[in-house]
Amino acid sequence: MRHAPIDSKLFIENRERLKKLLLPKSLAIVNANDVLPTNADGSLPLHPNSDLFHLTGIEQEESILLLAPDAHEPKHREILFLREPNEHLKIWEGHKHSKDEATKISGIKQVKWLAEFPVLFRQIMCELEHVYLNSNEHKRAVVEVETRDARFARECQAKFPLHTYHRLARLLHQIRVVKSDTEIALLQQAVDITEQGFRRLLKFVKPGVMEYEVEAELIHEFVRNRAKFAYNPIIASGANACVLHYNQNNQPCRKGDLLLLDVAASYANYNADLTRTIPVSGRFTRRQKAVYNAVLRVMRASIKGATVGKLARDWLKESQAMMNEELLALGLLKKSDIKQQTEDEPACRKYFMHGLGHPLGLDVHDVGFTTEPFAPGWVLTVEPGIYLPKEGFGVRLENDIVVTPNGPVDLMAGTPVEVGEIEDLMAR
Ligand code: GLY
Ligand code: MN
Ligand code: MN
Repeated sequence: MRHAPIDSKLFIENRERLKKLLLPKSLAIVNANDVLPTNADGSLPLHPNSDLFHLTGIEQEESILLLAPDAHEPKHREILFLREPNEHLKIWEGHKHSKDEATKISGIKQVKWLAEFPVLFRQIMCELEHVYLNSNEHKRAVVEVETRDARFARECQAKFPLHTYHRLARLLHQIRVVKSDTEIALLQQAVDITEQGFRRLLKFVKPGVMEYEVEAELIHEFVRNRAKFAYNPIIASGANACVLHYNQNNQPCRKGDLLLLDVAASYANYNADLTRTIPVSGRFTRRQKAVYNAVLRVMRASIKGATVGKLARDWLKESQAMMNEELLALGLLKKSDIKQQTEDEPACRKYFMHGLGHPLGLDVHDVGFTTEPFAPGWVLTVEPGIYLPKEGFGVRLENDIVVTPNGPVDLMAGTPVEVGEIEDLMAR
C-alpha cells in the first residue's frame, strides 16, 4: 500500500455493522480479487477488492476474510487468511504481510496462513447453518470473467449443498453506501489531490498541447501525492467531448476549442470523480460561456436538491426540467419540443443523455440502492452536461457531495468552476 496507514477502527466498525445484519448461526466469506492475466506471462496490477478492503483494510492478493459471529469457539468468529510469505516470494514479489502487520491494519486478531483454510472452514461450516457468499451485483456490470468470489461460491455450494445460502452483496451495499466520517475524510483527500491536479492543468493547457500531455501532467501530480487515476481519464478536446466515454486522449487541443476533463484521483482506494470543461486558449467564447453557465446552474441547483429522502428518479426529473428551460433559453429546444416530450424521453435527452449522478466511494460507480431515498452519509456525484457535436463542443461539470441532515455538503467547493475564476487562473 502506498497511502498513509488508516486507523483499524474503521474496519472494525465496518465488520460490526455487517455482523448486525447477519442471521443467527451464519458465516460470511469475502475473497480478494484475482490478479488478472494479460498476454503471455503478463498480468494486470492487482485491483484490490472493495468489499474486502472495506471490512479489513487488506489489499493483498489471495486473502480471505471469514466472519462467523456465532461460532462456538471465540477464535473462529473472525479470521483473516493470508498467503504465507517465503523466500521465493520475497525474492520475486517482495514483502508480503506478516500476521502482526495484518492484525495492525485490520484489527483482526486471528490471522492464519491459507494452508489452514480448508480444515478450519469445514469445521466452522459444520457448526453453522446460513452462509453469506459475495457477488458483484452492480446492475450495469457485464462480467464475463469469473471472479474469485464467484469461483468460491460455486465450489462452496458444490461441496456443501445442504446449507442455506444468502447474498452477502445486498448487506454490503447497505453498509457501504453510508459513509462514515473517516471515509468522508479519505474521499476529501482524493478530492483535494484531484483539485491540485486540476489547478496544475489550468497552468499547463494551451493551444497545441496534446490530450495525452495533459494526462501526463495529471498522473505526475497524482502519483507524487500517493494516489492514482480513479478511472481511465477522459481528456476530450473539441467535439471529442461529445463521446461520453472518450479515452483515446490522442488529439491536439486547438485554439478556440473547449477541453472536457473527466479526471480524478483515487487515494487509499477512495475515489474522487471530477469533471471540468475549460477553454484551450484561456477564454470562453460567448456561446461557450452561455452553454457553460447553463450547465453550471443545473449542477448548482441539483446539488441543492440532493436532500435526505429524495428519490434518485425524482432528483433526475427535476434536473431534466431545469435543463429543458436552459436549452430553451439557449435556442437548442423549442417550446413544442417540451410539449411533445414523454415520461421516458424528456426533451433535454437530445443534449443531456446520461444520468445526473451516482454513488461514489471505494468504487467510482459505487454500490448502493438507487431505488431507495437518499440518506445521510451517502456520497453522490452531480454531473449534468450539454453535448453539441454540431457546434464542435460539449460541456459537463461534475462535483462530489455528501448528503447530510443539514443539506448537501459539496466536497469540491474549493475546485475552481466559475468562468471568471477559470479564465483568471489560466491567464496567470
Ligand atoms: N468518470 C465516470 C463518471 O463520471 O461517471
Ligand atoms: Mn461520475
Ligand atoms: Mn466523472
